[in-house]
Formats: sequence, structure tokens, C-alpha cells
Amino acid sequence: MISEKLQKAINEQITAEMWSANLYMSMCFYLKGEGFDGFAHWLKKQSEEELDHAYQLADYLMKRGGKAMVDKVDVVPTGWGSVLEVFEHVYQHECHVSELIDKLVDVASAEKDKATQDFLWGFVREQVEEEATAQGIVDRLRKMGDGALCYLDGQLGARQ
Ligand SMILES: [Fe+2]
Ligand SMILES: [Fe+2]
Repeated sequence: MISEKLQKAINEQITAEMWSANLYMSMCFYLKGEGFDGFAHWLKKQSEEELDHAYQLADYLMKRGGKAMVDKVDVVPTGWGSVLEVFEHVYQHECHVSELIDKLVDVASAEKDKATQDFLWGFVREQVEEEATAQGIVDRLRKMGDGALCYLDGQLGARQ
């Protein structure tokens, strides 16, 4: 059985993952509107991944006898100035999520809940990948410049 405190913290992370899903969907709509179907596709996949993170957290919580909740999700940004600006925001946001996950591990540790700590290491590792992937896209956008936007749009559009 999971503690009340940890249940509350995991439910807050579920809301944060859903907010991330909405943020990436908002970015998807923006870039689709700008004619970048490939970048938009990548962000749609990213959004789906965030919803899956929310589900994984809820599933774990319920396995431990807790109650998963869908709470109010705050409004997300809707406008960006360029493709680079979008992906810089993705990178910053993933760094922020990494901090949230770290804090969640701290709560699990304070509650002496080993199973939750073990479960959360998967999320800690996932954040390393999320940050590196976003940083990689930002690097390519910066180095290759606007002339390569169509090429990169095609590349990211191939995300499975
Ligand atoms: Fe996530
Ligand atoms: Fe993420």
C-alpha cells in the first residue's frame, strides 16, 4: 500500500505529464499551421508519449492500492516565433520535467518506499534520453540553419 503523501505526489506528476502532452500538441498545431508537417508529426508522437507516461504512473499507483486521478490541467502556451524557438522550449521543458521526477524520487525516498523508487528509476533514465534527444534537435537546427529546415522536417517526420 502506497502512502497518502506519495499518492498525492504521483497524482501531481500525472497532471504534469498531461500538461506536457498538451504543450507538445499545442506545438504540433503551431508547426502544422506553419507548413512543417514533419516537425508537427514528431511533436504529436511526443505528446502521445507524455500521455503514456501519465498512464504508466496511474497504472503503477493502482497496482500499489492507490487511487489515480485526472485533475485540472492548466492552459498551455500557443505561440512561438520559429521552429528553433519551439525546440529550445521542448529542451527547457524536458529539463524541468527531469527536476520534477528527481523531486518525486526524493518523496519516495523520504517515505522509505523502495518499490516506488525502483519504478521511478525508469523515469529518471527516460529523462536522460528526453533531454539528449531535444538537445540534439536544437543543435542540428542551430548548426544547419534555416536552409536545412525542409530537410530536418523530413527527417523528424520519419519518427515511428
Ligand atoms: Fe514524460
Ligand atoms: Fe518528455
